[in-house]
Amino acid sequence: MNTDNDEDRLIAAAAAAREFAHASFSSFKVGAAVEDEFGRVFTGCNVENATYGLTMCAERVAVFKAISEGAGDLRRVAVVADTEILTPPCGACRQILWEFCGDAELILANLSGQREHMKLKELFPRPFDASFL
Ligand code: THU
Repeated sequence: MNTDNDEDRLIAAAAAAREFAHASFSSFKVGAAVEDEFGRVFTGCNVENATYGLTMCAERVAVFKAISEGAGDLRRVAVVADTEILTPPCGACRQILWEFCGDAELILANLSGQREHMKLKELFPRPFDASFL
């Protein structure tokens, strides 16, 4: 069963990962954490690049780390940024989150302790995925 503690832990993990962000071009630091069915947590931060276009968002880093480390089904995702209006995943990340986490619970949070809960489907209502292929 999920508890508030699990949620606090996931948000804290995303906030801690955010500290490692390579955001020297945008100065916009993001942290993400994904939790699998066994309660394992995988984190990511955004990693920018001088060519800009090769930048990788925190959410995708977290998902790819989880996949590469043998995670089970991913069921919850936390995204933390230092913004008053809570930062949602970008379009590319929504696609990847959908493909690897399905209609996961998404928690958006900031450094002042605000948080918002939603299902990924609310942000990504008509996804393209392998079911079309
Ligand atoms: N970014 C993320 O890491 N996740 C998001 O959900 C939104 C944007 C990063 C990409 C880039 O390094 C910086 O934030 C500004 O777009």
